[in-house]
Amino acid sequence: MIRNRFWRFAAQPHGNDFSAALALEDEPVPTPGEGEVLIRADWLSMDAGTRMWMTPRTDGYQPPLEPGVKMMGLCLGRVVASRAGGFKTGDLVRGFGQWADYSLVRPELSDLRVLDETVTDPRQHFGVLGMNGWTAYVGVLETGAAKAGDTVLVSAAAGATGLLACQVAKIAGCRVIGLAGGPEKCRVLVEAFGVDQALDYKSADVEAELAKAAGGVNVYFDNVGGPLLDAVLPNMAHYGRIALCGLIAGYAESGPARGPARFDQILMRRLTISGFFSPDFSARGDQINAVMRPWMEQGAIKMAFDETVGLENLLAAYAKLFSGGNIGKVIVDLRG
Ligand SMILES: NC(=O)c1ccc[n+]([C@@H]2O[C@H](COP(=O)([O-])OP(=O)(O)OC[C@H]3O[C@@H](n4cnc5c(N)ncnc54)[C@H](OP(=O)(O)O)[C@@H]3O)[C@@H](O)[C@H]2O)c1
Repeated sequence: MIRNRFWRFAAQPHGNDFSAALALEDEPVPTPGEGEVLIRADWLSMDAGTRMWMTPRTDGYQPPLEPGVKMMGLCLGRVVASRAGGFKTGDLVRGFGQWADYSLVRPELSDLRVLDETVTDPRQHFGVLGMNGWTAYVGVLETGAAKAGDTVLVSAAAGATGLLACQVAKIAGCRVIGLAGGPEKCRVLVEAFGVDQALDYKSADVEAELAKAAGGVNVYFDNVGGPLLDAVLPNMAHYGRIALCGLIAGYAESGPARGPARFDQILMRRLTISGFFSPDFSARGDQINAVMRPWMEQGAIKMAFDETVGLENLLAAYAKLFSGGNIGKVIVDLRG
């Protein structure tokens, strides 16, 4: 009998040690009830924001995960059984399921979509044509309002969201500076992704280096928060925009992340700082993809994938998001 292996969220993790927090278990493959869809996952998406769901904090954008539940996350695969309208066996779909071989979902609660099968590399539904792509597009062009000639700075620039934000800004005609951990990431950003300048925040004095950027930073696409934000604030151009995408430096904290010490610069430089959040604009996904897909097919935007094979190896893949072990989108391949 086929079994469904899944990761159970057992307990809130300490720091970034997930070994006691998540447990690999199995069960008979579930059968969908009325209104439910069963998906066999080909790939799982590892997303940094899920770390916050594992904390006890109740003031985040969603309630904390209750210990004992199956771990939630985005999956991409095929419908194997459906009792929900609009989804049939064999459909290629993406939505919020479980970290499991098989995900049982209610489409209206999981943002489940039937995907375009003409996309050559289906993994791009987790890349340029998925949540990270939409976040980069909206963050750079709408929240950040980047325009040709602007200097756009991106933190966690070699990660999934950051790589796409850098490339959207280049397409918009901006000068792009990436912040990333380590010389190899900086080399890849410049040589493979067309970033104009990359700063290794682990060895460089970021505040001093940014002070050399002529005219200052017009748009900061921030994935990190923490001390890097303090290094950036005094280097923003007057009337600059900070598109606050993520605060990964503080996701392991059980309470609120520390605010910026250089808050005063928001007045001194007449800055605008705005948070933005992909579920608020995921309904516009097809509209954004209609712009991003031609860019992708013309080679103007691409995604690197950091792929780990096997559900049993998922924790090593997940940990890369917090240790900086990845370049591009971290996914787990379950097709074996
Ligand atoms: N607002 C939204 O709707 C939305 C949607 C998607 C993602 N996000 C946010 O985007 C950010 C990136 O998420 P992702 O899933 O795409 O992951 P990712 O960028 O692929 O991976 C995370 C990267 O963050 C960097 N990092 C980790 N801890 C750091 C720290 N303390 N200081 C500086 N850099 C650190 C690491 O790169 P280095 O080696 O460079 O340190 C790591 O590779 C997260 O903050 C996430 O919450 C927001």
